[in-house]
Amino acid sequence: MPLWLVSSNLILGAIYLSCVDGVKVHIEVRDYRSEDWPFLEDIILHAENFGEGFVNYEKLRTDVFLKNPEYGTTLVAYDTESGKIVGFIAIQFEWMALVICSIITHHKHLRHGVGRAMIEKVKEIGRSHPIADIIRVDTGDFMEYAQQFYRSCGFEQAAYVPHYMSWNNHQMIFVQRLQRQ
Ligand SMILES: CC(C)(COP(=O)(O)OP(=O)(O)OC[C@H]1O[C@@H](n2cnc3c(N)ncnc32)[C@H](O)[C@@H]1OP(=O)(O)O)[C@@H](O)C(=O)NCCC(=O)NCCS
Repeated sequence: MPLWLVSSNLILGAIYLSCVDGVKVHIEVRDYRSEDWPFLEDIILHAENFGEGFVNYEKLRTDVFLKNPEYGTTLVAYDTESGKIVGFIAIQFEWMALVICSIITHHKHLRHGVGRAMIEKVKEIGRSHPIADIIRVDTGDFMEYAQQFYRSCGFEQAAYVPHYMSWNNHQMIFVQRLQRQ
């Protein structure tokens, strides 16, 4: 495992406060473990614009990242009181860029800051990466909620790419520059 990745794992564990039904909960973000998979599968199956067709592909990627941490990593957000996993994010390490492959918050925990907490963790990882300069993510041009989410987390739109994943799919690419430590 690259040294910079070892050190980024050491800083996983910051606590983020979120408010659910007026009750404050603590959210932490940690590395994914293979026994987490059933919870991720459940999250994927219930997520808007995801569902059954995505399960095998997401599983394949989490397995590849577990075996090859230099390619990428999967992180999970969990409630420190209950231990319940409330979201996950997968990032790939590309040349000078961290690319967000997937981000999903559990459908019962939307709009409680879980997504933002996971993005903040990716920023921390990026800041300690030896050469990464940007975080990049793309989303469907019809997914306005996701575009608003990325903008609210500090991303700006870099491009609109017609026919990106299939002939009828058009993606918007968002980037944000990493602030070096
Ligand atoms: C996109 C997603 C990950 C956001 O996760 P989340 O945990 O609900 O996001 P947060 O609570 O951290 O939201 C942070 C901010 O993003 C913006 N935001 C989040 N969801 C939004 C929505 N549905 N509509 C408008 N703005 C939204 C808001 O500014 C929000 O702050 P606020 O709640 O104080 O107003 C979540 O909607 C999700 O899992 N969607 C299904 C899967 C998906 O589409 N993933 C993205 C694929 S590209």
